[in-house]
Amino acid sequence: MKIQNVIYAYFSPGGTTETTVKAVADVFSDQEGVKLTEINLTVWEERQKLHTFGENDLLILGLPDYGGRIPTVAAEALRRFRGQHTPAVIIATYGNAHLGDPLMEMKKELSLNSIMPIAAAAVVTEHTYLSDLGKGRPDAEDMMKIRSFAEKVKARLECLSASYNADSLRVPGAYPYQSAPLRGMPFKVETSDACFYCMLCIPTCPVKAIDPGDPKNIDSSVCIRCGACLKVCPATAKSFTEEPFKELQEGYLRTLVDVRQEPVFIIG
Ligand SMILES: Cc1cc2nc3c(=O)[nH]c(=O)nc-3n(C[C@H](O)[C@H](O)[C@H](O)COP(=O)(O)O)c2cc1C
Repeated sequence: MKIQNVIYAYFSPGGTTETTVKAVADVFSDQEGVKLTEINLTVWEERQKLHTFGENDLLILGLPDYGGRIPTVAAEALRRFRGQHTPAVIIATYGNAHLGDPLMEMKKELSLNSIMPIAAAAVVTEHTYLSDLGKGRPDAEDMMKIRSFAEKVKARLECLSASYNADSLRVPGAYPYQSAPLRGMPFKVETSDACFYCMLCIPTCPVKAIDPGDPKNIDSSVCIRCGACLKVCPATAKSFTEEPFKELQEGYLRTLVDVRQEPVFIIG
């Protein structure tokens, strides 16, 4: 199959999913006549658009695991993707804790709109809530494996038959899904007096949860606890509510620090 366009899409408030997806897309950049296009689903406006893909396109999609599922806002965006028997590579990132059903969910959501996953990867990344967990990942070893996976996808596309069906791709995870979509968490984002109103967090928030007139005012019913505002704040004024967050961070997550999970790559 001759690919003319490679479209790489990701939702990545912390940047690790973006790095992973770009590493896969980069392997296609040296192919003559192939155009690369980026869709950054972290941006609210990009998620509202209808994205259409043709039969000679390849979609590379990367989403993080949020409590065993893909982020709800990303799932909504996928419902505005339209393919024409378009092949896809699906990539789930997770913070070295537990991989749930994000690959299964991506496969299901895309297949409904005529986009057919032909390959999948579960890549271990630094955990948003504890940087010691999966620290620095994807690291050099992961990157080598990611590039080798992308080369295999390239080879697989060469011999992909027109009748290819996404059922041939077996991905980790269960259906019915084992977790419910993550809505809210037992902690909130708080803003300390160190905030000097630089306003950087406002456009950074992927869900527009921060009041454009007052960055200390955050709508917790909209906030997805992705940590993007904590990362961008130059004054370290943003944090998660101390007690319940510390319980998760220093309890469950801390116990997993010494167990290195390895990425998984599957070609259908
Ligand atoms: C709300 C939320 C829920 C998460 N749930 C899980 C999880 O269930 N298992 C896991 O291993 N990592 C989990 N993580 C960690 C992320 O999957 C991981 O850090 C991912 O790399 C974040 O992607 P990003 O850097 O592109 O934003 C979670 C992170 C957040 C913010």
